[in-house]
Amino acid sequence: MEGSEELLELTNSVMHFIKLKKKKNTYRYMKTTIYYFTGTGNSLKIAKSLSEKLDKCELIPIAKVWEDDQLASSTEKVGFVFPLY
Ligand SMILES: Cc1cc2nc3c(=O)[nH]c(=O)nc-3n(C[C@H](O)[C@H](O)[C@H](O)COP(=O)(O)O)c2cc1C
Repeated sequence: MEGSEELLELTNSVMHFIKLKKKKNTYRYMKTTIYYFTGTGNSLKIAKSLSEKLDKCELIPIAKVWEDDQLASSTEKVGFVFPLY
């Protein structure tokens, strides 16, 4: 169909923009970031328990961000939960 590729491209761009905006708003809304690493789940349990007790706390797995060149958090407080190996 004529113009359908352009329409698909435009739809994808709009969806990408909405996703970015949502992400930005989430970070602005959060007060605390907890980065966690877990092998067998104990540290995740602790991190989850802490985040439930803290106001507006987001949990980020270190495995997801450890290869990022820069790691910037816009929250007031940042914490780390990890096991001793
Ligand atoms: C390979 C290995 C090495 C560990 N070395 C230590 C250690 O040196 N000191 C310590 O206190 N605990 C050590 N532990 C215990 C872990 O810190 C503990 O099991 C922790 O709760 C694991 O957390 P996770 O379930 O989030 O991976 C070790 C556990 C494993 C599996």
